[in-house]
Amino acid sequence: MAAESPAMRRVQVAEHPRLLKLKEMFNSKFGSIPKFYVRAPGRVNIIGEHIDYCGYSVLPMAIEQDVLIAVEPVKTYTLQLANTNPLYLDFSTSANNIQIDKTKALWHNYFLCGLKGIQEHFGLSNLTGMNCLVDGNIPPSSGLSSSSALVCCAGLVTLTVLGRNLSKVELAEICAKSERYIGTEGGGMDQSISFLAEEGTAKLIEFSPLRATDVKLPSGAVFVIANSCVEMNKAATSHFNIRVMECRLAAKLLAKYKNLQWDNVLRLEEVQAKLGISLEEMLLVTEDALHPEPYNPEEICRCLGISLEELRTQILSPNTQDVLIFKLYQRAKHVYSEAARVLQFKKICEEAPENMVQLLGELMNQSHMSCRDMYECSCPELDQLVDICRKFGAQGSRLTGAGWGGCTVSIVPADKLPGFLANVHKAYYQRSDGSLAPEKQSLFATKPGGGALVFLEA
Ligand code: GLA
Repeated sequence: MAAESPAMRRVQVAEHPRLLKLKEMFNSKFGSIPKFYVRAPGRVNIIGEHIDYCGYSVLPMAIEQDVLIAVEPVKTYTLQLANTNPLYLDFSTSANNIQIDKTKALWHNYFLCGLKGIQEHFGLSNLTGMNCLVDGNIPPSSGLSSSSALVCCAGLVTLTVLGRNLSKVELAEICAKSERYIGTEGGGMDQSISFLAEEGTAKLIEFSPLRATDVKLPSGAVFVIANSCVEMNKAATSHFNIRVMECRLAAKLLAKYKNLQWDNVLRLEEVQAKLGISLEEMLLVTEDALHPEPYNPEEICRCLGISLEELRTQILSPNTQDVLIFKLYQRAKHVYSEAARVLQFKKICEEAPENMVQLLGELMNQSHMSCRDMYECSCPELDQLVDICRKFGAQGSRLTGAGWGGCTVSIVPADKLPGFLANVHKAYYQRSDGSLAPEKQSLFATKPGGGALVFLEA
């Protein structure tokens, strides 16, 4: 199972309207017929936010929305990228000289991340060229992993062009690592679920080693995604990396406090593993070892016995060098409590008590509160949307993905769904000020979808 590669499926393109349209557009763009197609899905994280990069398990599911790429390998060593969305401009480069510009979060850079990851994995300096037409229907910058889906899709495109084989786990690990070329220090959740997802089931994703276990969601409830219409591009700001660094520093201070070798500790999970204690006990250690007042760089250096220069060059990322305030206590409290909620969520799904929808909803509500107050990754619009969703029948509602904008996910009893959708639409999207761009508005029920795969024309 772990060694399984992404599926390769033969399809009658004429019977799939989206593939057919892509084939026709490809033909008018490049004057030829695609050799194959690859799809990689976006995801919604049900619970477990901002803890994957701390080493903790998360609980996402793939959504039906995806990135689909039509591909034709060519002999010219040129990579030509086009997008069905005219907002995303054409791009071409030599396939042997891939440069990723971190200063600009342009769409094609995500493709290049996936390509470069595979190229480096096989130690190849010469890549064949290809023509690619990309079509995505995941709302961008909305916390549903449109960028990781593009990275994963590009990774699988490159692997297929090369005629090589890798397991889903290897692909997920390569793509998680190579997405960091864009400059964000993400964990591996998005890429893992994009490859390891299976239709009909959410997954518990565990790291080191990477593995995915089915989590059966309650049949009496539906998960609904709603876009706050506030765009958050995590590569364009330093919010995301600041949180990663705060967690890293918290881990080092906790390890030092407990007289552990702290200099090679990077993740909060490592501290727990070294101490061999429970998450609840880690919350108590956090209260003893850290203070709620923010830390400045000088205090951190004093605690660790290092210079400011060492802090900057050996610990912090390039875009967090000038940060003056680090909230270590709050971030560690969020991470350890959120990690515990993920395990409770999975346990409730397994035991399926009669009031399970209510219990799962409570955990999702607690998760949102912790993201809002301790991790400070919400925003007023997300908080308002979460309140509206709860008011109209969600048992639980929370921000999903990185936050600071993007979508919420709510658990709604199945019989309340039609009324819920109508009321939330009215209360959030049909506001009198008409301030929300209609093309960004999305409110939809979702089901666990399948993972990345390759289509060949039958
Ligand atoms: C982004 C990152 C993920 C994860 C989430 C927050 O989607 O890519 O790795 O950290 O944010 O849970």
